[in-house]
Amino acid sequence: MTDQSILETGLLADIAAAPDVAALEAVRVGALGKSGVISGLLKSLGAMSPDERKVQGPAINGLRDRMATAIAERRDVLEAAALDASLAAGRLDLSLPAPPRRRGCVHPTMQVMDEMIAIFAELGFALAEGPDIEDDFHNFTALNFPPRHPAREMHDTFFFPPGADGERKVLRTHTSPIQVRVMRKANIAVGAPQFEVYRAPPIRIVGPGRVYRCDSDATHTPMFHQMEGLVIDRNIHMGHLKWTLDAFIRRFFEAEGVVTRFRPHHFPFTEPSAEMDVQCDRSTSQIRIGEGDDWLEILGGGMVHPNILRTCGLDPDEWQGFAFGLGVDRLAALKYGMPDLRDMFAADTRWLEHYGFSAFADPNPASGLS
Ligand code: DAH
Repeated sequence: MTDQSILETGLLADIAAAPDVAALEAVRVGALGKSGVISGLLKSLGAMSPDERKVQGPAINGLRDRMATAIAERRDVLEAAALDASLAAGRLDLSLPAPPRRRGCVHPTMQVMDEMIAIFAELGFALAEGPDIEDDFHNFTALNFPPRHPAREMHDTFFFPPGADGERKVLRTHTSPIQVRVMRKANIAVGAPQFEVYRAPPIRIVGPGRVYRCDSDATHTPMFHQMEGLVIDRNIHMGHLKWTLDAFIRRFFEAEGVVTRFRPHHFPFTEPSAEMDVQCDRSTSQIRIGEGDDWLEILGGGMVHPNILRTCGLDPDEWQGFAFGLGVDRLAALKYGMPDLRDMFAADTRWLEHYGFSAFADPNPASGLS
């Protein structure tokens, strides 16, 4: 046996006996590392005579290649064994079904708000917002509620304690202050074109948000959601209001034939004012929209009162408009058949899961709202 074949037999035995990857690495360094035995043999080629090198060169290179292959094969075996051992130790049974994952879902109020925004967006309305904590000016005065007018009490307002200046802030009782904020910004744009972020009229916005009143029973909650609508342009009249709301209601209830009616009403901020009723059937426990011969009041609206336009700096002889306010939770309850509005805010996840609106299903009039 030559020295080389003794070396080879020894190394193969060491490789086969290496119990783990670390031990195998030690064998590899001892043989093929910088100062390993085989590396030493390769270096010795330089000192050999050409004839000797012709024989030894292929022999030593062959030895090196066979060892490298043997080590790689043994490494694969050891790594697979290590993986098996760790899987066994972790008791990971890949044949078990995955544990159920709790999936969040969208609250029906938010779902309906998104549906409403999608419909109004299609009609060319932009989105506007205002603060939940309002001042008296935006919530009442600018909306034509005179000081001490009973309407201020009518709203059953949550007032904050007076500030240093004596002013009492309120939790807004309706989304109508958004109208005032939008029109005042529009007025700045009319007067001073450098404020281009503020869009001058024409205005077409919807303003969704939370509103608050001291009220609580099956059909009233102290916090609920409204959506305000405002259109300001030249030559706007009640016909535009009626068409817009009819179009909205048909889209929203996905019922083309649904009939609406407008009843005269009073709001301080519109003149004339109206409430809109929708045709429904109330003969069963579930109210059906677009059938039967009952009526259900679903929103208020009217032509923006000239006092409000003036307060916001817009000339009523040049600009007119209509406004409306919708109760979002009530519309959700009607569309999806919820008997008690208080369930909306009970934070019961079983109730939410029952309606199960997916966060990934963006309401869209083209592909379906719900
Ligand atoms: N702000 C009214 C409310 O909370 C709803 C409303 C009625 C809004 C008529 C309007 C409107 O913009 O024109 O009861």
